[in-house]
Amino acid sequence: MPVPLLDLRAQHATIRDEMMAAVTGVIDSQLFILGEAVARLEGEVAKLSRTKHAIGCASGTDALLLAFRALNIGRGDEVITTPFTFFATAGAIHNVGATPVFVDIEPRTFNIDPVAVKAAVTSRTKAVVPVDLFGQMAAMERFPQLVPGLPVIEDAAQSIGARRTIAGQERMAGEVATIGTFSFFPSKNLGGYGDGGMMVTQDAALAARLKRLRVHGGMQMYHHDEVGYNSRLDALQAAVLHAKLQHLSHWSAGRRANAAYYTSAFADVAEIRTPVIDPVNESIFNQYTIRVERRDDLQAHLKRKGIGSAIYYPVPLHLQPCFEYLGYRQGAFPESERAAREVLSLPIYPELTSAQLDEVVAAVRAFYGR
Ligand SMILES: Cc1ncc(COP(=O)(O)O)c(C=O)c1O
Repeated sequence: MPVPLLDLRAQHATIRDEMMAAVTGVIDSQLFILGEAVARLEGEVAKLSRTKHAIGCASGTDALLLAFRALNIGRGDEVITTPFTFFATAGAIHNVGATPVFVDIEPRTFNIDPVAVKAAVTSRTKAVVPVDLFGQMAAMERFPQLVPGLPVIEDAAQSIGARRTIAGQERMAGEVATIGTFSFFPSKNLGGYGDGGMMVTQDAALAARLKRLRVHGGMQMYHHDEVGYNSRLDALQAAVLHAKLQHLSHWSAGRRANAAYYTSAFADVAEIRTPVIDPVNESIFNQYTIRVERRDDLQAHLKRKGIGSAIYYPVPLHLQPCFEYLGYRQGAFPESERAAREVLSLPIYPELTSAQLDEVVAAVRAFYGR
């Protein structure tokens, strides 16, 4: 039985009528740009993230770009981030003219190492960008303590609805950042029917600036206070996302249940290191990522058996050809480089049947002779 890495058609089969109604509603209204559908989704995402403001935009990449612009980050500025993330995190830093400064990850969680962040701060540092990788929040409480006043942009593209207990209080992804950013790329836990993104913040002035930047830098038609972008969330996407949002916590709980199943099924296989979730975190498991020996052979074995898997990410960003100009060398960030050699993400989507889960478990175990 083939088991794809992600089966969006299985999700669609469970919500088809709702989705068709959401899409038809927008088409009947013929209101496609921003408007009520987007405002309604923004309100719900702000509520979920426990932030005062949420601003929709065209993608998770643009959400980062707009966040940097709203914080006046540009040429001559340094922004500290992790090299073990999707390209967009550092690409957006580069694209506002700033310099990405990479620091290594904590090997357990794959998230940026706060101690390394502190060591990388210079007089040119203008922000830090922790990424909540694979659905698990970074140590968000650490960054404001390291450098008081330094803006923290939380790249929560993979982690909408994730939680972390900070000083005895549960905090949501995006909640304690200066600006938090989400992606609605179809493969995310909350995925649209195309691209989409959102920024959240507690700061009214930043929210106003983000709103302006997404519509060419002016709130009044044909009047431009600054040069912004065309980066709006489509009403069609907003309607789809609003309908899907009602299912998000259930879907993420399904992913957690699948993760727990795999983790106990692999417990006796020494060659497999299952994901470590910090006890103060609740992950949304956008990915279930194991570390293994002979990773590429395991992936080839799974492929032969019809089981999907993926390597997120095979080349850390400091070793990407486009960032050669930054001057990093192989060996600069050993934990990120080791992770890139060892990681493999397995199917984790909530519609997996127990037979499919068992198929994945059996195939992985068989590779290691169990
Ligand atoms: C960590 C991270 N940052 C940024 C992005 C960019 O989001 P998008 O694809 O919506 O532009 C993604 C997702 O694809 C991501 O995983």
